[in-house]
Amino acid sequence: MSDFNAAAFRQHFPFFTEQPEWIYLDNAATTHKPAAVLDAVGLFYRQQNSNVHRGTHLLSETATNLYEDARTCVQKYLNAAESAEIIFTSGTTAALNQIAYGLMHSVLKAGDRVVISALEHHANIVSWQLHCQRFGVILDVIPLQGDAASGYQLDLNAYNKLLSLNPKVVSLTQVSNALGCILPLENMLLAAKACGAITVVDGAQGIAWQVPDMQTLAADFYCFSAHKLYGPTGLGVLYGKREWLEKLTPLLGGGEMIEHVSFARSRFNQLPARLEAGTPSIAAALGLAAAIRFISTFDAEQIKSYKRLLLKTFHDGIQHIPGINLLSAQQNNAGIVTLNVQGEHPADLALLLNEQRIAVRAGQHCAMPLFELLAVPGAVRFAFAPYNQLTEVEQCLNALTQAVEILAL
Ligand SMILES: Cc1ncc(COP(=O)(O)O)c(C=O)c1O
Repeated sequence: MSDFNAAAFRQHFPFFTEQPEWIYLDNAATTHKPAAVLDAVGLFYRQQNSNVHRGTHLLSETATNLYEDARTCVQKYLNAAESAEIIFTSGTTAALNQIAYGLMHSVLKAGDRVVISALEHHANIVSWQLHCQRFGVILDVIPLQGDAASGYQLDLNAYNKLLSLNPKVVSLTQVSNALGCILPLENMLLAAKACGAITVVDGAQGIAWQVPDMQTLAADFYCFSAHKLYGPTGLGVLYGKREWLEKLTPLLGGGEMIEHVSFARSRFNQLPARLEAGTPSIAAALGLAAAIRFISTFDAEQIKSYKRLLLKTFHDGIQHIPGINLLSAQQNNAGIVTLNVQGEHPADLALLLNEQRIAVRAGQHCAMPLFELLAVPGAVRFAFAPYNQLTEVEQCLNALTQAVEILAL
């Protein structure tokens, strides 16, 4: 059993008291926001609203201080060496695009190799692909092995073979958003560093499972989105080691990212401003800081074991429902279960669950190449968060049983 008090945790989230009919299991898409986050965002717009790094007035100074405090809060959460290593972006997608664009335009040369995995979200595929052809860079993919019962995982022998080709970049997700499996990142990144590769981690799903320690994880870059960590949408974090951030060619130009501009050329600003063109999502940054302060008051290991309990209860329960094809295994899973009802379209199942106010996601989960490998057209995803209750899992299992019966008619 878990010592985590899920009912008390849930009480911090106004959504569940204001929309009590919903069972929300779409947490891999986005999480709900605790009152502390809503308050921080609301307070900013009600009392502190001003632009940052611009005005000479007190309001702007206050906004700037709050914004920079938020950066320091993220720095401490990730145990980054300095706050200038935290760049605010609009999300994980924007962060990965900045890294790919920045490295392609500065570090990579024709014939260089970038390694990603078969488990990647489109954001960590397309961001590289956009430039590969133009710059003559080769994109290699670590294949999958295993099966749904024992759990799909990356073929580490194949990975070692790809590393023997001396890739310049290895860019991996921490947790698969489509299957829930957790990658053996620590060792994979160490192996990549041993070959001299620049290492990138897509932490969009991983951040809510295991907060990375940037002093021990062999990652040069780590990205995540605030909205998957109980924070606002429209804000992401691009962490990078200073030496690598300084090498990135900025993707966006304008605003405070310059030191000097003439019509002939521009000289870029110091970090972090160098990679933050335009007015940032100030309120969202304050919201993320509030989310981090909120989640830090709970025991991360207790949250993990509670999520494992939700997952186990659901996964065990599924075994008693006939006609379900599971794609996710229970072991080594961060709390995401993907499945199909034999012979049925995933959207039909999701619609039947929606009728019972159970929110799940159906489709290919922005991982089209993975679904092609698995040879399934799509699947329904159930993603758990610590505010979900065991009773909700039971209700969901009952709803699934009914849905399977209806679909069989
Ligand atoms: C693994 C992974 N990477 C990247 C993203 C993109 O995140 P965002 O849409 O917040 O930029 C997601 C979103 O679902 C994801 O799950």
